[in-house]
Amino acid sequence: MEAPVHVPEELWPLRHEALNSIDGLALIHHLAAQACARQLPGDMVECGVYNGGSATAIALAIRGHERRLWLYDSFQGLPHPTPRDGVEATRFAGQLVGEPDRVRNRLAEAGLASDNIVIREGWFADTFTQPKPNAVALLHIDADFYEGVQAALHCFYDSVVDGGVVVLDDFAWWEGARRAFYDFCVEHDIAPITHRHGVAGALYWFKGESYVRSHETRHVRRDSSSQPGPAD
Ligand SMILES: C[S@@+](CC[C@H](N)C(=O)[O-])C[C@H]1O[C@@H](n2cnc3c(N)ncnc32)[C@H](O)[C@@H]1O
Repeated sequence: MEAPVHVPEELWPLRHEALNSIDGLALIHHLAAQACARQLPGDMVECGVYNGGSATAIALAIRGHERRLWLYDSFQGLPHPTPRDGVEATRFAGQLVGEPDRVRNRLAEAGLASDNIVIREGWFADTFTQPKPNAVALLHIDADFYEGVQAALHCFYDSVVDGGVVVLDDFAWWEGARRAFYDFCVEHDIAPITHRHGVAGALYWFKGESYVRSHETRHVRRDSSSQPGPAD
């Protein structure tokens, strides 16, 4: 598990409405700010918005930068789960209904220019077919269930730039989200170096991060060209 990330003062008020823990919000804020500081190309994408808690954490990190924040949510709550999501999941169908106007207000309060906000309302199956960002610096997936997480990975992973970061919020919380990650890795023949964070066990990885092995020492170390995580 990675070391805790510093929690900026401005994130504390978000914890009342965000479903993410404060350390989850700090992580997503940190990764978005880091992408800006490194001048990675690309926009920010969040799949699973609810009332905009973690979206606001991203907005606070990217305001003043010429980047867009693309937000995807049904605003009708969670869909019906599949058996992969486990028996507990069935009682959550239709819950967590967010309000897009509330999200817009939060983002405006955070100081993100309206031109830099795209909210796609509707089920992923419909909104993922609409025009989307060409390049993604940060992909935050917080959709809880197998099919939503799989759909988000399939839709956006290829657009994540080298060094860009993918965050799976529900990795240790929902078995379907975890299974979606493993299935995607097999289907895409990827074996990312993953990092874990926080009480809910979010998982994240930097696309293209790799290790190099020294022939002389047989010692394994992180490639200096890779993108270090918050603990670095
Ligand atoms: C855990 S909540 C997101 C929490 C949010 N990130 C926050 O900061 O509070 C999960 C959201 O995913 C959305 N969602 C899940 N599956 C979806 C799908 N297939 N299509 C559209 N929205 C979906 C739900 O509507 C719900 O608002």
